[in-house]
Formats: sequence, structure tokens, C-alpha cells
Amino acid sequence: MVARKKMRNFYILLKINQHIKSVRLKSLGIYLLHLSGKRYFGIFLDPVLACNLRCRMCYFSDEEKRKSFSHEMFKQEDLPRLADAFFHRALKLQIGCGAEPSLFPYNKELIRLGKAKKVPYISMTSNANRLKEKDWRELVSAGLDEITLSLHGVTKQSYEYFMTGGSYEAFCSSWLVLTDIKKERPDFKIRINYTVNKDNMRELGDFFSVFPAYALDILQIRPIQQMGNPAYHHFSWDDIYEQYDSIIEKLRRECSGRQITFIAPAKQDLVKEENENADSVLVHSTFFYISPKICWESDFELDKDTYESYAKRTRLGCALLANVFKSRKKMLTTKKQLNYKIN
Ligand SMILES: C[S@@+](CC[C@H](N)C(=O)[O-])C[C@H]1O[C@@H](n2cnc3c(N)ncnc32)[C@H](O)[C@@H]1O
Ligand code: SF4
Repeated sequence: MVARKKMRNFYILLKINQHIKSVRLKSLGIYLLHLSGKRYFGIFLDPVLACNLRCRMCYFSDEEKRKSFSHEMFKQEDLPRLADAFFHRALKLQIGCGAEPSLFPYNKELIRLGKAKKVPYISMTSNANRLKEKDWRELVSAGLDEITLSLHGVTKQSYEYFMTGGSYEAFCSSWLVLTDIKKERPDFKIRINYTVNKDNMRELGDFFSVFPAYALDILQIRPIQQMGNPAYHHFSWDDIYEQYDSIIEKLRRECSGRQITFIAPAKQDLVKEENENADSVLVHSTFFYISPKICWESDFELDKDTYESYAKRTRLGCALLANVFKSRKKMLTTKKQLNYKIN
């Protein structure tokens, strides 16, 4: 019941955020939350910098890039320090961001610390190939609120083609275990992140006939983005553009009939050129990326600093307040922005 309320509140916050257009107004909100000691940011944590797969759309399929990943991971004794430094100010803890979190042996301990510090929402994003029933049960018992399973193909053939090194059976087996866990813990959320390209889009039409018995709360269609120099680099939508709406509308109807939240970008956004927007100011203030290589800001020292001591030392409050008065022109950066439609 409490978790359901938290989940609802979290998505309500997202929707409110989508409706407030003024970056300065949002910056004022962030400044006030900082000043009053409230929670206002999300922690995006890669506890280990490695992956067991080499998905074709991902930079892990680029041998050079792959080699540059250090396989570093947090030590178990780093975790309480991390929790003391940040968790009391976090709205969300996202485990797994740019690498594979299931390779980290202390996720259970990490989640427990998050719950002890009352982080409202703890989520993990994974390819789900490594973990077994016992592992999943431990993570959910520790307090995991949501799992996002990454999927790059509906059929075994395209799944194993796009998720190189992955096993379709291992993925389905994890999803079935999570389906069972959800029967016992209905508040636990299961989300699928389907990274879509022109070659795995059509099979989405069969999604619910292939996966009829699997529990699902949120289905997000995430179009391929150019991240580094991956093995698959067909970024054009030409072949599929005209069919996009009918495939998406069918999914939207099917999700609606099953009370599944459906998130997908509008067709025109797929081909939108980079445009100027001011959101990077907000992203910088609220997106705290943490890995064994970097802890939020490059001069943050985990063995000495906490969020508060660092904020005092660097006059973070002044910088946040300055955002409220920045002209729109000064905030503008150029990037492609996807407007996701949440139903
Ligand atoms: C980089 S992965 C890291 C977390 C974990 N290893 C996983 O795959 O779930 C984070 C997300 O990025 C997605 N992704 C991978 N390559 C992508 C691309 N080229 N464009 C957009 N999303 C991509 C994955 O499907 C996954 O949902
Ligand atoms: S998408 Fe995730 S699972 Fe696939 S290679 Fe990238 S980090 Fe690994």
C-alpha cells in the first residue's frame, strides 16, 4: 500500500514536472528544496564498470570502448559512506545506468542502506541474464521497488542477435521469477525498456502474444541513440517511419487494456534534429551520477565529503540560486530532446 502510494506520487511528480515549462521556476523549486534540507535529486549509480554482454546498439560492442571500462567496483565498506553522504537527500536511487549492476555482489546491502535512509524509490536496470531466483528474491526482500529489464528483441533470434552474449531463456526465466515474486508483492514494479531500431520495431506487434503470461507494469519504447561507436549503427527510421504509428497505437491499446503504463516517443521526435533547450541546467542540478571512478562532481571526495560539507565548501546554494536568475539564452545547449508520451 505504502509502495503503491510512493509509485503513484513518483509518477505524479514526473507529470507535474512535464507540465511546468519554466526552467527558472523549476530551478527555484530545486534551490528551495536544497535550502530546506529536503530530498530533490536522483542518484544514478553504476556500482561496477563492466558488462557481461556486448549488445550491438551499446558502446560495450565497441572493442576499444569495452577495453576502456576498468571493471572497477565499489568495495562493500564504501557503501555506508556513500549512503551517509547522499541518500538522505535522494528522491530516487537508480542502480545500473551505463553498465551492468548484476555483476556487483553487494546490491542487497546497497538497497538495504537505501531503505534505512528512507530513499522513496529504489530501482535497478539490468539485462537480467545472470541473476537466479534466490538473487531476485533477496533484492526484492531488501527493498527494491522496481526492476527495469532491458530487451532488444521480442523473438529469440533478434534478442540474441542484438544482445550479443545474452540468452533469451535466461532473460525469460528471470522475468517469470519476477512475475511470481510480484504475485506475493503486488507493489513491486516490473518495467521493460525496449530499445528500438528500424530492424526490431515490427516484431513489437507480437509483444503480448509472445509474452502473455509475464507480469508488467510499465512498457517503455526507447529509440536507439548514438552512444559511441557500437556494432549496429543504423540510425535511420526511413524503412519503418510510415508504420511507426500503427505499431505504437496497437501497443498502446494493448497496454491500456492490461492497465500497463505505456511510454513511447511521438513519431516526429524520432527524426527531430538537435534543438536548443535549457533543460541541461536542471539535469545538472538533479542528476547525480556516481561510479567507482567519479562521485557526483569531480572534486567530491568520498572519504571526506558529504553532500552538505561539499555544498558548503563550494557554495552550491549560490550556484543553484543563480540558475533562477539566468537568462534563457545563457541556459541554452543544443541536444536532441525526446518528448515521451506517458499513458
Ligand atoms: C547501457 S544499459 C545499462 C544497464 C544494463 N546493462 C541494461 O542493459 O539494462 C542502460 C539502457 O540503455 C539501453 N541502451 C543500450 N544501447 C542503447 C542505444 N544505442 N540507444 C538507446 N538506449 C540504449 C539499454 O537497453 C538499457 O535499457
Ligand atoms: S545495453 Fe546493458 S547489457 Fe547490453 S551491453 Fe550495454 S550495458 Fe551491457
